[in-house]
Amino acid sequence: MRSTNDFDLIVIGGGAAGLFAAGRAGERGLRTLLLEKNDKVGRKLGITGKGRCNLTNNAEARTVIENCTTNGRFLYSAVNAFPPSAVMSFFEKRGVPLKTERGFRVFPESDRAADIVNALRSYIKDGGVTRITAEAKGLVIENGAVAGVDTTAGRFSAKSVIVATGGISYRLTGSTGDGYRFAESAGHTIVPPVPSLVSICCAEEECAEMAGFSLRNVKLRVENKKGAAVFEDMGELLFTHRGVSGPLVLSASAHMREYEKNGYKLYIDLKPALTEEKLDARILRDFEKYKNREFENALSDLAGRSMIPVLVRRSGIAPEKRVNSVTKEERRRLVSLFKSFELTAVSPGPIEEAIVTSGGVSTREIDPKTMASKKCSGLYFAGEVIDVDAYTGGFNLQIAWSTAFAAANAVPKAENDKESGKMKHIDVAIDGPSGAGKSTLARLAAEKLGLIYVDTGALYRTVGLYVLSKGVGSRDEAGVTALLPEIDIGMKYSDGAQRMILNGQDVTDSIRTPEVTKYASDVSAIGAVRAFLLDTQRSLAEKYSVIMDGRDIGTVVLPNAELKIFLAASAEVRARRRLKDFEAKGIETTFEEVLRDIEERDYNDSHREIAPLKPAEDSVLVDTSEKSLEESLAEIVGLIERAMEE
Ligand code: DC
Repeated sequence: MRSTNDFDLIVIGGGAAGLFAAGRAGERGLRTLLLEKNDKVGRKLGITGKGRCNLTNNAEARTVIENCTTNGRFLYSAVNAFPPSAVMSFFEKRGVPLKTERGFRVFPESDRAADIVNALRSYIKDGGVTRITAEAKGLVIENGAVAGVDTTAGRFSAKSVIVATGGISYRLTGSTGDGYRFAESAGHTIVPPVPSLVSICCAEEECAEMAGFSLRNVKLRVENKKGAAVFEDMGELLFTHRGVSGPLVLSASAHMREYEKNGYKLYIDLKPALTEEKLDARILRDFEKYKNREFENALSDLAGRSMIPVLVRRSGIAPEKRVNSVTKEERRRLVSLFKSFELTAVSPGPIEEAIVTSGGVSTREIDPKTMASKKCSGLYFAGEVIDVDAYTGGFNLQIAWSTAFAAANAVPKAENDKESGKMKHIDVAIDGPSGAGKSTLARLAAEKLGLIYVDTGALYRTVGLYVLSKGVGSRDEAGVTALLPEIDIGMKYSDGAQRMILNGQDVTDSIRTPEVTKYASDVSAIGAVRAFLLDTQRSLAEKYSVIMDGRDIGTVVLPNAELKIFLAASAEVRARRRLKDFEAKGIETTFEEVLRDIEERDYNDSHREIAPLKPAEDSVLVDTSEKSLEESLAEIVGLIERAMEE
């Protein structure tokens, strides 16, 4: 019996990632507990973007990844699976109209961050999420798997925990954040948080004039437009074509956000060891030493060669003026130039020049598709606690939504969980030639029995589509193999239907053309392609109870499937069925053509060297040639139900 303290999932942290993950889990029907130590959830979210909440950036998934300063690649599948467009439609559907401003930043039309927080609050409420105000003290880990969370309100049990504690407090206080501590207790490595380091672009073209020139032991002070110092330190600075860089600037950049809004000014003290009086005395001495020279030639002891023309210009003193006739007032201007050389920061430097960014739970130890810990089963991470970071512009919140979505989707439902007593985990393999009715029957049976239908042919078709789009021959083994690293395949279920996502784009509707069909068949004979898709197929079956159809599911992909069905039908029957499908879609063809195609594919699929189509030894043969759809379905459902009972 379950106690009231038993949940399917506990989410720690009621910020953006935590709220969204809890809501999504609730929506999926998981019994979810949300732990938040503040009595109000979404506190930080409510004050971001000056209370307006820049919730995402109206851009492609690719752009989000390009704007990550750390571990963008890690986010590839999560952001593609839940890109900005999905975030925007989520909030709009929940009654928050949005608007896109400069830099593609997205805000609620009302300019009220509270609207976003309220939408999330209603999301968790609708999902039946239990929310308590309590502080998580530590994870309960038993035999390398999460078993619950100890909190100030007692112990709660769950087989899955999402840590969504955020990371900012760690950065500001320098102390170990809660989330990091939990992760460490589960065996994770924390990448020490270092703020994002990047060069700074300045408005002054003079920087280019001085590019490559570095200044040692100078003091840099950064002020926002209100005149408040956001950074001040000593060190080394370097001029670049676009602005400034060097260790001092990189450190400063970590404290600078939203350049336009803050109107940052940089003030470089070129002589921090000297007071104004001492500097003036020093200048006088130099002028004495070079008394017969022109002003521009008397500064060589005080400033580097590249800087002198700039300083001279800024001082307003005629370069050819004799130094002994420089006035006191002119000297005063020179002193203040040395003590406070002003630059206008316009933006952070290019992303590719960024060096280090903030830390968190190491991405190497997290599965990028599911945000699941690779160290401790049942543990997931979402949001800022992960070692990922991006520029401002809504990207960081986008990361929170995408990672939360991935984690909340990956948490297994108790009903469909391997260890749950309610329903046994079962994997059903259905193999057979094309046109035998695999996909229709598998889909209907899955629907009826509450299993997940996985159409593996669609994976091969998606690879085929990519190869075709690149103009590479479908039988060019080396060419196809070389393309594989460029391919990222995602699968989504929308209204129960499997959608195929190729490099972030939904290609479901493009993979059924005769040309792609031919390509799919050819590329499926290539060993590297099969190996490439094997993991995806196996991990789905591991996580969920599935009915998976294909050619080698029972023989190669799931050799331990609880039930293996080989679905057959004569080539003529299959051709007749296909022809009907084509006619319904308005595709013109003839019976002979379809039959020839089918025979050719049968031959291809069963004569290839690797994983040829053949029944697994322990498979059950179901011949649908003489059966109606209903009859075939009843037979298959019966077989599965029996296997479930065993
Ligand atoms: O089932 P389908 O027609 O959508 O499959 C497309 C191609 O992919 C088909 O020619 C065979 C190949 N395939 C495979 O080799 N192994 C699988 N498990 C599934 C499909």
